Amino acid sequence: MKEKVLILGGGGFIGMNIAKYLNENRDYKLTIADNYFYRDFEQYFSESDLESIEILESDLTLESSFNKLDKDYKYVYMLASVVGVNNTIENPEEVIRVNTSIIMNSLNWLSHSEVSRVLFTSTSEAYAGTIENDQYKVPTDEKIPLTINNIKEPRFAYAVTKILGESAFLNYSKNFSFSSTIVRYHNVFGPDMGFKHVIPHLVERFIKKEDPFLMYGFDQTRSFSYISDVAEGSVLALESPHSKEEIYHLGSEEEVTIEELIKFVGKLCNFAGVYKEADTFPGSVKRRCPDISKSKKEFGYEPKIHWKEGVEITVNWYKDYFLQEGSSKKDGFKSLEELGN
Ligand SMILES: NC(=O)c1ccc[n+]([C@@H]2O[C@H](COP(=O)([O-])OP(=O)(O)OC[C@H]3O[C@@H](n4cnc5c(N)ncnc54)[C@H](O)[C@@H]3O)[C@@H](O)[C@H]2O)c1
Repeated sequence: MKEKVLILGGGGFIGMNIAKYLNENRDYKLTIADNYFYRDFEQYFSESDLESIEILESDLTLESSFNKLDKDYKYVYMLASVVGVNNTIENPEEVIRVNTSIIMNSLNWLSHSEVSRVLFTSTSEAYAGTIENDQYKVPTDEKIPLTINNIKEPRFAYAVTKILGESAFLNYSKNFSFSSTIVRYHNVFGPDMGFKHVIPHLVERFIKKEDPFLMYGFDQTRSFSYISDVAEGSVLALESPHSKEEIYHLGSEEEVTIEELIKFVGKLCNFAGVYKEADTFPGSVKRRCPDISKSKKEFGYEPKIHWKEGVEITVNWYKDYFLQEGSSKKDGFKSLEELGN
């Protein structure tokens, strides 16, 4: 009999790509649980693959949703979460309610299950405050203390829930029979990533012919991680014999300025207008780049796709999408003024 794997939030961008990776590279019986399959999930799998994937439409903020799950998964990936800067700024209380409910429901269920390993997906936002205070180095390793700089600022609500999640998974697994592994993702991108991220926002604005083109946060840096590398890294992290109760940074080691990213996307969109420097959201970290040597050493994580190659694939996907559909389904670009900043 095949071993079972469960992906909570498997209808989302990264979860769906982990499912795809597992389907192509492993031989498990997969179950996907999510409350909202916004993309045409089924187009990514063949008919015969879909026959062996169990798809559960479930609101994981409800404890009762977990009653529908088996108890004997070998691996569980926990990705279900409200994500995105717009969501966090506009509805921070909802981010807190949903993310903490899913974390606690997952842990209560895991405590009474026979699951052996679980991956909790955290974020570089959890340590952004420490970088902002110039208290740690970039590229950043896993030993960095986690800091919230202004607890009153809605923008930090998402990071608060992820810090809670890291602590909760690591501490529950000390007292129960499953082991936890934490990964912190760093700006993951790729085709069909949704509409709440910088690259789809840029393509949408270039297609709408914004000119002058405002370069929000032009002097900030990020490192962009292509989705296939991150999906593989997540699986290698959870399956590693070394990763029980460990934290890993997953991302790319190349630090890129936002200006460089914008101008590269602009070139791919044939923009011939004028660029103008502009400020970004208060609380948005100035630099971000992970040190991934621990992931490389302990489970052979090795990103393969250079950011420019990945950005070109992604921009082409969004150009086609916007030319056909006109605008984003939801979570499209909003200016600072529209978000009330
Ligand atoms: N994309 C990134 O760059 C990034 C960076 C850092 C961390 N992460 C983390 O990785 C994980 C996956 O992110 P993603 O980019 O795939 O986001 P996503 O929004 O595409 O996926 C999250 C999924 O969770 C599901 N979900 C939300 N509320 C739910 C509920 N009540 N019940 C069931 N399912 C629910 C959503 O429907 C969605 O499919 C998240 O936990 C996120 O915080 C992502």
